[in-house]
Amino acid sequence: MSTKFVNVEDLRRAAKANMPRAMFDFVDGGANDEWTQRRNQAAFERIMFDPRVLVDVSSRDQSTTVFGQRLETPILVAPTGLTSIAWPNAELLAARAAGRAGAGFALSTFASNSIEEIAGTGVGPRWFQLYVTKNRAWTLDLIDRAQAAGYQALAVTVDTQLPSMRERNIRNGYQSPPRITLANVLDFASHPGWLHRFLKGPRPTLANTPSVAALTASQFVELGNRVARELDPSVSWRDLEQFRARWRGPMLLKGITSTRDVARALDVGVNGFIVSNHGGRQLDYAPASIEVLPEIVAACADRAEVYLDSGVRRGSDIVKAFALGARAVLVGRAYVYGLGASGEEGVDHVFRILKDEIDRCLALIGVPSLSQVGRENLRFSTGC
Ligand SMILES: Cc1cc2nc3c(=O)[nH]c(=O)nc-3n(C[C@H](O)[C@H](O)[C@H](O)COP(=O)(O)O)c2cc1C
Repeated sequence: MSTKFVNVEDLRRAAKANMPRAMFDFVDGGANDEWTQRRNQAAFERIMFDPRVLVDVSSRDQSTTVFGQRLETPILVAPTGLTSIAWPNAELLAARAAGRAGAGFALSTFASNSIEEIAGTGVGPRWFQLYVTKNRAWTLDLIDRAQAAGYQALAVTVDTQLPSMRERNIRNGYQSPPRITLANVLDFASHPGWLHRFLKGPRPTLANTPSVAALTASQFVELGNRVARELDPSVSWRDLEQFRARWRGPMLLKGITSTRDVARALDVGVNGFIVSNHGGRQLDYAPASIEVLPEIVAACADRAEVYLDSGVRRGSDIVKAFALGARAVLVGRAYVYGLGASGEEGVDHVFRILKDEIDRCLALIGVPSLSQVGRENLRFSTGC
């Protein structure tokens, strides 16, 4: 057990120390007041356990299945774009770590490693996350490439009608065009390890975007912002029907926090939902994912699989989500902190920590198998 990285917060602190502030804040920050971002974690903290004792917990099992595929631990790497600002080759390293941990992996449309490269790691279950841009030919091509590369599920992100206002990014000059200030230059210069990796390692790029070469840091920021502006606010159910007809495997909606769209999505043929507020990065004052999870599970009435992301930092959060009906969770920032702290090894630490926390939590609540955890294992408080 590393004494340096005992929990995910330790990795967050190390990432903060290693990365230029603008880059760390891009990962760490959320929209506007960051209220939803804080609420994601606060809502987990309001849920307690109702532990049982004198249960034989000498053998424990945290496996689950996602669309019929076994996962040794109920975790998938969440799709995150522009992640190689934390460490070069971010997705490749994270996919390898996920494979070693028995976790799944979801690749972002805006990843630095290509659909085919990640398929080559053999990590599975392997999902592809789709952003719908104004360039529909590209969007449809992405679906076809993911299908051809053997991705098992398509997750269509639906909570990014427009890029949100991330106020930290603006203050840090992480905007388009990037603002080069003395403070920025000093910020980069005071993180020589990061600068060295950025200049010497494989340059960050958006590998699945047509004709994009390796980029400088400011071009990368600029491109990220430009691509974000390409997100299509006109996306509607008709598009979803088209994607449904084209994609032959399970299709998920990523980014719902309301039951009101569930019935229609099921009618279109959606097979799964990722209850998510984008980690508090899109609509501020959206509810915490864990708060609305039970309603969405009920609305699905076993017609779809339900997943959760946003705010997961502890193995106990994962047990709570499972108890409220999630089949697995996706972790975004937690794994990016691991990358920022120490690359691939940092992501290994994140998985080791979360798996160990799930394991101890199961033992201490007296439920040897995650599949047996239910609402009866929880207690709720309205605050203290
Ligand atoms: C740096 C970063 C980049 C992200 N990029 C994407 C993306 O490209 N596509 C997407 O659907 N979600 C993206 N997300 C949202 C995550 O998939 C996920 O919903 C969120 O991180 C979950 O909250 P958590 O960070 O508290 O775990 C991103 C999140 C972060 C932190």
